[in-house]
This record gives sequence, C-alpha cells and structure tokens, in this order.
Amino acid sequence: MLEIAKHSDLKLTRYPIYPNDKFLAWNAADEYLVNYLNQEYHDLKNILIIEDEFGAIGIHLKADNIYFVNDSILSQKGIISNFNQNKINTSNLSFLSPYDPFPKDIDLIIIKIPKSNSYFEFLISKLNSHYPPDLPLLAATMVKYLNSTLYETCHSLLNNMQYSLTWKKAKIITGKLKGQKNNQDFITKVKHANLTLINYINLFSSSKIDIGTRFLLDNLSLINFPPNLDNIIDLGSGNGIIAFSLLTLLPQAKFWLTDITSSAYHSAKATISYNQLDSNNITLSKDHALDSFPADFADLIITNPPFHENHKVSIAPTLSIFADCFKVLKKNKMLVVIANRHLGYHQHLKKLFSEVNIITQNDKFIILSAIKSI
Ligand SMILES: C[S@@+](CC[C@H](N)C(=O)[O-])C[C@H]1O[C@@H](n2cnc3c(N)ncnc32)[C@H](O)[C@@H]1O
Repeated sequence: MLEIAKHSDLKLTRYPIYPNDKFLAWNAADEYLVNYLNQEYHDLKNILIIEDEFGAIGIHLKADNIYFVNDSILSQKGIISNFNQNKINTSNLSFLSPYDPFPKDIDLIIIKIPKSNSYFEFLISKLNSHYPPDLPLLAATMVKYLNSTLYETCHSLLNNMQYSLTWKKAKIITGKLKGQKNNQDFITKVKHANLTLINYINLFSSSKIDIGTRFLLDNLSLINFPPNLDNIIDLGSGNGIIAFSLLTLLPQAKFWLTDITSSAYHSAKATISYNQLDSNNITLSKDHALDSFPADFADLIITNPPFHENHKVSIAPTLSIFADCFKVLKKNKMLVVIANRHLGYHQHLKKLFSEVNIITQNDKFIILSAIKSI
C-alpha cells in the first residue's frame, strides 16, 4: 500500500551536516514527484528508487519493499539517518549500488535524474536489460538541469515518454521501459604512463584525467616526502590514479584508497586487476572522508579533494576533510593537496597545520603540503 505523508511533517537533513551548510536535503523536483505519486499511484508493493539523495522521495512512501540505488555511501547514510530521526521503520528498506544486480518484481521505478547524462543513460539501459517492457518509470529534476542529451536518452530508451507541466521550476518525465537488452559496458579505459585506468561510468572525470590531477602527477618529483612512509592514504581516490602513480616511487608503503562512491571503488579494483598491481599493499574502502581510519595512523595523506556534491558547489566538505586529515596524520607527517588556486585552501590549512608550503603552482592550480608538527 502506498501512502504519502506531507513534506512538512518530516525533518530532512543532508548527510553529513557541515557547519554553515546552506543547502536543503530536497528540492522542488522531489516534492513534485511525491505529489504526483500521491495522485497517480496506489497499492504498490515493490519500488526501486534511484539517486534519491537523502531519501526525500522514499521517506514519503509506504510499500512492502523500497530498494534505494545510490552511488554514494553518503546517500545511504543520509537516508537511514532521515528515517531514524523521523522514527520511520527501516526494515523494508534495501540499499544497492548502481552496479549491483537489481531486484526482481518491481512495480515502479523512480529516478531523481543525476548530474551526469552518461550515468543516466547507463541506468536506463541497465533497467531496460533487467526488467520486462512496459514497467512504468518516473524521472524528475529541476528544469535548469534538463538538456538535449537527456531528452534524447529518454526518447530513445523509453516508450510513451511524456513531460509534465513545470511546477516550481521542476519537471517530471514519465515513460515505460522498452525492455531491450543493451550490451554496452559503459566502462572507459584511459591510459596514463604505464597504467590503464578502468573507469566506471559515474566516476569523477571518467573519460579523461582531471587537469588538476595531471598537474599533481607531473610534479610528484617536487614533493619532499617525509622519510619512513608506512601508511599512505589517497583520500577521495576515484580510480586510484594518484596512489597508483606513487607505487613505484614509494614501493615500501601500504596504500589505503578511500572514496564515497561505488564507481570509485569498482574503478580502482578493476584498475588493480587489469594492471596486475600488487594488491597485498593496497586496501580500498568506501566511506566518508577518513571515517574508516583511527587517529595518528597515516604517514602521508594525498588528495585532490571534492568541492562539488552533485549540482552543489561547496568547500564545506573539504574543510571538514582537512580537519580529519589533521587527526589521522601522525606527528611530523604530511598532507599533500592539489586544488584550484581560487579556493584559497592555503589559508584554511594554516588554521590547522603550523607549517604549510606551496610545492608549486600555475595560473589555475596549486599543490600544497602541510605538516602536522604538534
Ligand atoms: C576531485 S575528485 C578526485 C578523484 C581522484 N583522486 C582523481 O584525482 O582523479 C574527488 C573525489 O572525492 C570523492 N569524494 C567526495 N566527497 C567525499 C567524501 N566526503 N569523502 C571521501 N571522498 C569523497 C569523490 O567521489 C571523487 O572521487
């Protein structure tokens, strides 16, 4: 049975909550979908909800089974935390990554359209390969994020596609699956030095090496690494390109790669296997910031930190990540950061670390090192 509660009845928060975070945990596209579901759908048993970032859609639905599909572990944690803080039972919820097998016998698919067009195309193609034709699908986003590629994907991969009227600058797309198999693997191979990077579809910079990362890799020889490096963490590791480029420079060290997305986890795992890297010294984890690590653990943390969360641009996550780095580094050990110069991380790092140096910079990027000397 599907029942819809009013949005205003519930308290919804983003996850994690950063100081001075100005963003909401939902937008008008979520509200529009919830209202639409209320009018059009009843008695659904099994619902698949894709990229419902903090559960703003799913929390309003009552069904026998709700399957949430999210690439980021932050969404899963945020959804559970929102259900818990509203005292809503979570026993009928399941959490999947976009690369897991999808459950059988679904009555309705709901998608909050993600930022990446190619990820959206991957999702619809996967749904078409897994489910029979005519399964209904609802997708919603804000009008400003709609574009011609997205329209073309919907037109070519869905039957009976229709657009709703615009409500509060949001739109809903309805359609039915075509149910056609697609053999495209949606994986991109990118060459760098003697590595072949295996990039899953929703990976950061999946089709090419990010220019900031490239600037860091081109200047690794300028970094005066502290001696006796035992544990090296690549934070926000993506496909692991930074850590894997350090393997030959620092062969004695153990490498710990951590990122919030399944795309990063699978890309790094596939890259290790494809390049036959020594996996004994490499550990992958999917977690927020350095939540998986104890204090005073790392000898070196190296990062190209995030400053986007889907469509939102914010340095709040990075500032919180810097505080984590300070905690997890051993005394006299080093954090290395590659970033856009305009973000001014130098000043932020100085509030935490007593010694902050510019390793090198160009007109766009800066490489900083920070030593934890207390
Ligand atoms: C700028 S990208 C760098 C990726 C990779 N290191 C590279 O250089 O290509 C930042 C990465 O941080 C990850 N990320 C975002 N928020 C995070 C968080 N709170 N904790 C850990 N990783 C995060 C993103 O998924 C993304 O892979």
